Amino acid sequence: MTAHQTIRPRPGVLDIAPYVGGESGVPGANRVIKLSSNENPFGPSPKAREAYLKAGETLGLYPDGGHQALRRAIAEVHGLEPGRIVCGAGSDELIALLCKAYAGAGDEVLYAQHGFLMYRLSALAAGATPVVAPERELTADIDALIGKLGERTKLVFLANPNNPTGTMVPEAEVARLAAALPPQALLVLDAAYAEYVRQPGHDGGTALVRARDNVVMTRTFSKVHGLAALRLGWAYAPEHVIDVMNRVRGPFNVTAPALAAGDAAIRDTGYVEHCAITNEVWRDWLGKEIRAAGFGVTPSHGNFLLVDTGGRAAEVDGHLKSRGLIVRRMEGYGLGGHLRISVGDEEGCRAVAHALRAFGGAA
Ligand SMILES: Cc1ncc(COP(=O)(O)O)c(C=O)c1O
Repeated sequence: MTAHQTIRPRPGVLDIAPYVGGESGVPGANRVIKLSSNENPFGPSPKAREAYLKAGETLGLYPDGGHQALRRAIAEVHGLEPGRIVCGAGSDELIALLCKAYAGAGDEVLYAQHGFLMYRLSALAAGATPVVAPERELTADIDALIGKLGERTKLVFLANPNNPTGTMVPEAEVARLAAALPPQALLVLDAAYAEYVRQPGHDGGTALVRARDNVVMTRTFSKVHGLAALRLGWAYAPEHVIDVMNRVRGPFNVTAPALAAGDAAIRDTGYVEHCAITNEVWRDWLGKEIRAAGFGVTPSHGNFLLVDTGGRAAEVDGHLKSRGLIVRRMEGYGLGGHLRISVGDEEGCRAVAHALRAFGGAA
């Protein structure tokens, strides 16, 4: 017997198909526009870039393991209690830590049919069983989720808006789900795209977290804040959950340049607003153009559009690639006939619209 037959990871680990991120290059193309990972086409606030560079002067020192300054900044900007915030290396890390801390062998982690892929991967990595609830019109169905709750449910993940569909569930429905949870289960509201939502008063789930002790909200600096490269996210949670997360996370899980840049980024609320408005303008424009080109588009609250190619995703993808436009294939989500296209800047949006019109529609 060789070592790889006798030394085995925990059950579930080998069921994980490693996460494949958005492509970033096209062989032979010298100029590409990357629209495959829902990044901010404008990058971060200049103030965040400046803070990042300044942090480069003290690379010999460990970061503040308590993330004090960043938690204070987040708390001030969002009107929250710093003691109920925990930071992570991207919200991916927070999702993984929640699974590691709360779900293990025999436990269930529930999410909607086209929920963000990391829920399944993190559940499997923790040894737990992923459970999927069907959606309705590419939107999480709260009754279906409630129908799957049981004694073994430990975590329920709901991205709102969801990636890759871009659809949302109304606040009252989210509250209904939280109220229906069995006593041992925690609801994780993944608000990675909350800043892009243009509904007045949308808070990503903050009020629900405050009102209950079984709801957590995760946020990221990778989207509207344009800091995907630095890997930074945060969660707002009841104190008992914060205590658990602080026990399972690495003592220096967030780097000093990320802490510094995140602090400056979150305080630059004008930049965030500008990016969200610009995204809305070009998302709506691009959606209309794609429909006019003959494709289906799911109305989106995020910085991306899910496009129905009528079963011609490979062809359309190839056509876009030949023009240096990189978008995301959706086979991993069971949406093989769709492509997900991030909302780029004006040049990127115009290039996509032009290419899709030239392709000639879905049918
Ligand atoms: C819904 C959702 N949640 C979480 C993440 C992870 O973001 P990050 O780990 O970069 O913070 C993403 C990234 O695409 C996402 O779409």
